Amino acid sequence: MCGIIGYVGKRKALPIILSGLHDLEYRGYDSAGVAVLERGHLSVVKCKGRINDLEKLLESRNLQACIGLGHTRWATHGKPSKVNAHPHTDCSGRITVVHNGIIENFDSLKKTLTKEGCIFKSQTDTEVIAHLIGKFYQGDIEEALRRAVKMLKGSYALAVMAKDHPDRIIGIRNDSPLVVGVGKGENFLASDTAAFLSYTNRVIFLEDKELVTITPSGIEITSLGAKRIAKKEDKILHTKEQVQKGGFKHFMFKEICQQPQIASKVISRYVTSKGQIKFKDFSIDQSVLEKFNKITIVACGTAYHAGLVGKYLIEDFTGMPVEVDLASEFRYRKPIIKDNTLMVAISQSGETADTLAAVREARKKKTKVLAICNVVGSTLTREVDSTIYIHAGPEISVASTKAYTAQLMVIYLFGLYLAGIKKTRSKKQIDKVLASLCQIPSKQKKVIESSKDIKKIARKYLHFGAFLYLGRHLNFPTALEGALKLKEISYIPAEGYAAGEMKHGPIALIDEYRAVVCVATDSFVFDKMVSNIQEILARKGKIIVVATLGNKKIRDCTKEIIYVPSVEEIFYPLLSVIALQLFAYFIADLKGYDVDKPRNLAKSVTVE
Ligand code: F6R
Repeated sequence: MCGIIGYVGKRKALPIILSGLHDLEYRGYDSAGVAVLERGHLSVVKCKGRINDLEKLLESRNLQACIGLGHTRWATHGKPSKVNAHPHTDCSGRITVVHNGIIENFDSLKKTLTKEGCIFKSQTDTEVIAHLIGKFYQGDIEEALRRAVKMLKGSYALAVMAKDHPDRIIGIRNDSPLVVGVGKGENFLASDTAAFLSYTNRVIFLEDKELVTITPSGIEITSLGAKRIAKKEDKILHTKEQVQKGGFKHFMFKEICQQPQIASKVISRYVTSKGQIKFKDFSIDQSVLEKFNKITIVACGTAYHAGLVGKYLIEDFTGMPVEVDLASEFRYRKPIIKDNTLMVAISQSGETADTLAAVREARKKKTKVLAICNVVGSTLTREVDSTIYIHAGPEISVASTKAYTAQLMVIYLFGLYLAGIKKTRSKKQIDKVLASLCQIPSKQKKVIESSKDIKKIARKYLHFGAFLYLGRHLNFPTALEGALKLKEISYIPAEGYAAGEMKHGPIALIDEYRAVVCVATDSFVFDKMVSNIQEILARKGKIIVVATLGNKKIRDCTKEIIYVPSVEEIFYPLLSVIALQLFAYFIADLKGYDVDKPRNLAKSVTVE
């Protein structure tokens, strides 16, 4: 979603801000803007469209300032346009603000401010913040910001600059990430470490309602009551190279190809040389884990599909019931959580608003929460009892791929770990599953090696107007995830369904114009899938199958087969999904779409 970068130091601010905005592009946006402050003059330049368009506008301006703000906007209130792009200024033109989040009471605030004489230029909720700060400003900009945020309801990460204070940027957050980049003789403020990683990997994560002031030589963090807060500095361990395409056409393709390597990394991090599962920094005692007899998983989108796979696996490994909830539903449905329930929150970013809200709901009831997360230091990881990191490295493509299989890897290990604790599987049985899991990276490589064949099928099917994805048992979440990938990046309507539900409705869709992707790898429900395939063929539907290499029966059904290597039944979710990611990727690329930045989507959904 929206992105913020602020710089104050001795260098020219504009190139740093623009490179920061480029590094935030992956989050998704529709307009962009910058504000710089130089010799008492505030210049604000913004436009609808891409950062490149903004750069063109800036070419003719000779802006030498050493302090400035930049923003990428993903429209919520008011259409994407130059006037709605950030930064926004107060009526006096002295104060300028960039904002991520949603101000829920902006309408009533706007009415009051308008009555008081403020003239609004945009339709955004953000502009009320600029006017509020302007209203409260009496020489102390930090105090004006404190008074302003006390009036706000909703989520915000704010960065503010004022003409009268050319040495500083101030910021504050509530339910939306904001992080300080610590430099030498310069400092940064951003919504995401990616924005300043080229300059520093030293960071300070802010908590809600902490106000930060950055100057070239200092960082001061205070409470809403103006009391100083001491904070510890962290280090970002990934490098700038990891957030570059490195010769790949798209981040999505790079990230798909990274999956075997990441799966190996997860194994080597969490499985000792003696074959024991050990989660580093895991802080829920075994004695506590032993007592749980139910698990509730909450997540959104792709992470939710990982949770669905988790349900099949953990129930199978441990005999414990596992419920999987969409976080956006869980938070509003007065959930019943008993003492003996462990909540597992799955999130790549650790910043998804609904997942955070679901976790907070559970924590109010004193439920223990475990996060499965990618981003170190993210809000989720700071609010839960313990985190197992998936170590997928930065995921830049908006459509999640490598995070999904890394989440699955952790879920397999966590399920086995629980089975060991609860003694539902013997050591020998666990060792056997682990030994097979260790073979998965090489099998995933084989799927990636069949890219050319998958591309051929994609080329043949890219003109179909709608797709249905079917699977049973563990292949059902894979079907859902395959359909999600296709619709996200190719904009082709695609629906995922449990194949057993076909006769209860979706079969009505089948005719010669419908393409049906069937995930039919070898399993105890394989014959049932074949029956579904026959029913589709009988209605002239076009079939593409993901099947196990060597399966002869499937060849009688269709010519369009994407083969994945043979593995034990429980491991197919780690392979088949890669075939479907590639299929979606090639369709979108062949159609000429911006694969990494699909329209209307944002990388981390920090607002509801
Ligand atoms: C799909 C996708 C989204 C995310 C969802 C949750 O490709 O990326 O569906 O999975 O927005 O995001 P996280 O995992 O960051 O909580």
